[in-house]
Amino acid sequence: MIKPKTTLGYYSVVGFEREPFSTSPDPDFFYHTREHDLALTNLLIELRLRRGLSVIFGDVGTGKTTLSRKLLHELNKRGDMIFHMILNPAFNGEDQFLASLVRNFNIDLPDDIDLKNSDIMELRDAIEKFLIQKTLEENRTIILLIDEAQKLDLATLETLRLLLNFETNEHKLIQLVLLGQLELYSKVVHMSNFIDRISFKFTLNPLDVKETEELIDFRISKAGYRGGKKLFLDEAISEIYNHTKGYPRKIIMLCHKILKEMVSQDVAIADRAFVEEVVSKERQWRMMPLEMVKV
Ligand SMILES: Nc1ncnc2c1ncn2[C@@H]1O[C@H](COP(=O)(O)OP(=O)(O)O)[C@@H](O)[C@H]1O
Ligand SMILES: [Mg+2]
Repeated sequence: MIKPKTTLGYYSVVGFEREPFSTSPDPDFFYHTREHDLALTNLLIELRLRRGLSVIFGDVGTGKTTLSRKLLHELNKRGDMIFHMILNPAFNGEDQFLASLVRNFNIDLPDDIDLKNSDIMELRDAIEKFLIQKTLEENRTIILLIDEAQKLDLATLETLRLLLNFETNEHKLIQLVLLGQLELYSKVVHMSNFIDRISFKFTLNPLDVKETEELIDFRISKAGYRGGKKLFLDEAISEIYNHTKGYPRKIIMLCHKILKEMVSQDVAIADRAFVEEVVSKERQWRMMPLEMVKV
């Protein structure tokens, strides 16, 4: 029986077991580029040494969220870490932010207080008590990761700075990892007492052409490709690089489109012209007036 050609399961038609170019930040599909690897290794060291504050900067699509998922994956393997990740930090005032920490870290409040009518000092006290107990008595490491940290307002950044004041002679009681676009830098650059507390900072840059190729090859083999032949010629890869400038999200999205187009046109190998064709189709689609776009 001939399988119907469908772009739904396109990856199985071309000989993959899994979708190679999905944009979800799956730690299994994390490729250790030089920069991602440097960032990951250093973050793990900082956390182990409980140095306090690490900040990762990077443009949209450079791999910050993917890196944070990989980091959580690594931390999960160790039993002595307690972590919480904030994906979209939009808080209405310090009390709301502290209350969210109390809720998410399952922090006990004294019997006569509940979250709704607690004040800032009570929340801070409860958090400090929790940090002391977990770190000093149970020898656990408490980690708060904040993605999209460029959205943090100045009041919350100031609260984070205060949390870093909870410390012993050797280490901080809470470990903060902030990941944010470059605007985060312009927000904190004038907060010298925040900047001074950064123990590790790193900027994720786009990939070079060689790493672009490695990322694509890695994704293809990780997705269980058994086809034997090379799907993208070298000239196709360099064209992909030209169009994406090495930004991982753009690379993955373009490769996804190329592969889909290969399936629907029954093309076995993508060359430069084929990549150009996919890119120009995409451009035309973008320029089309909305009412002409068929969905
Ligand atoms: N190191 C990596 N290995 C494999 N894929 C990656 C890597 N970094 C980024 N990607 C891909 O690029 C996409 C965009 O990365 P993402 O982490 O969402 O970027 P950011 O959070 O900086 O905007 C991810 O969904 C993932 O598919
Ligand atoms: Mg992100």
